[in-house]
Amino acid sequence: MERQWTKSSWQDFPALQQPKWPDKGAYNAAVEEISRMPPLVFAGEVRALKAMLAKAEEGRAFLLQGGDCAEDFSQCTAPAIRETLKVILQMAVILTYAGGKPVIKVGRIAGQYAKPRSSDTEKVGDLEIPSYRGDMVNSPEPTPEARVPDPRRMVEGYYKAAATMNILRAFTRGGYAALHRVHAWNQEFVKNSPMGRSYERLARHIAAALKFMECIGLDTDIPQLNQASFFTSHEALLLGYEEALTRQDSTTGDWYDCSAHMLWIGDRTRQLDGAHVEFFRGVHNPIGMKVGPNHDIGEIKQIIARLNPQNEPGRLTLITRFGKDKVEKHLPPLIRAIKSEGFRVVWSCDPMHGNTYTASTGHKTRNFDDILQEIQCFFEIHWAEGTVPGGVHFELTGDNVTECTGGGRNIVDEELLRNYQTNCDPRLNAEQSLELAFRIAEMIRS
Ligand code: TRP
Ligand code: MN
Repeated sequence: MERQWTKSSWQDFPALQQPKWPDKGAYNAAVEEISRMPPLVFAGEVRALKAMLAKAEEGRAFLLQGGDCAEDFSQCTAPAIRETLKVILQMAVILTYAGGKPVIKVGRIAGQYAKPRSSDTEKVGDLEIPSYRGDMVNSPEPTPEARVPDPRRMVEGYYKAAATMNILRAFTRGGYAALHRVHAWNQEFVKNSPMGRSYERLARHIAAALKFMECIGLDTDIPQLNQASFFTSHEALLLGYEEALTRQDSTTGDWYDCSAHMLWIGDRTRQLDGAHVEFFRGVHNPIGMKVGPNHDIGEIKQIIARLNPQNEPGRLTLITRFGKDKVEKHLPPLIRAIKSEGFRVVWSCDPMHGNTYTASTGHKTRNFDDILQEIQCFFEIHWAEGTVPGGVHFELTGDNVTECTGGGRNIVDEELLRNYQTNCDPRLNAEQSLELAFRIAEMIRS
């Protein structure tokens, strides 16, 4: 017999990676406050995303998921949100036009505020202080005071997520994301790069197609062209926050985690009998699960059976993150195991997290060619196995940062310090993101 699920039943299971909130009363008051606030998304939207993901599973659409490693409260501004949205729209246009497939656009945005850490503490000089766990938990400044988990930050995170969501809805529905504006998303600092020029060329083709439609009398003032569908996602790490935003849909009676459209479980918190799997099995959102090199295939199968007992299409996305050197070893056996069970999953590739290393300058970085190589292997392996490479998952920003090495302008180690901004993992910059989109478009077209 399955145990009864409630939005609180996870509390009876061990939850890894939870902050040690010093004041239990303050914590309870914070989650209680959030539980009275309006949801950030509504169930109908979540179901629409699930239906699109079901198409990705069959190769009739492609999932593009991306955004910051960790969102920064101080970057909750219209320009910062717009820059991230822009680069995702550009990538989506490239993948749709050059790749010939509808693209499901999912941001790591409007709630990506909590981070799992490999160590509870870190050394700063001689001082041992608690690790930074994301803006919803503590502050990145390297002082003991800044690192004390503060539950009021969860409330602030809710409001920041709501403000982000609001401007995203405005941009995507209000004309900013209209295909007529495809040129306008290309940023000044990208325009004169090889990738910027390739993008301009593609944008001209789209503009010409729209012009043609108008010439022959087709109405182009329609939502398919004027509005972009865009969804939000984050790692659902802080289960108290997620529970507080979990609501029962009045039309179906089903429970949805209304903090975002899609949520994922991290590689470090996906224990079969852990709190995260317990929480996720009861909400009806599309769920992602990260799978890294340290997995047990038997356990993965059991988790999938628990998370998706009805084998519903679009429910589960497996986001593999093996690294370029390990993908050949780990991906084929995993694919075969899943296939032999008949499990329906969207296969997505996170080529970021398995390819992180420390540069000669001491910066945490990733190399463009390694990222591309893991993606290429991911596609080749799926084709060889007869399964569908259904999507990609990136850490990226629209800004002109220097956090990952390589790419068209071949950023070298010594240049990393020029504009290294991230609080957490290194992100692709706008140019590197476009370049990857062009390369992936070639792959999905074939
Ligand atoms: N409405 C479609 C979509 O969201 C087409 C579209 C409109 C679009 N604006 C876009 C696609 C911007 C990519 C980027 O997919
Ligand atoms: Mn990361």
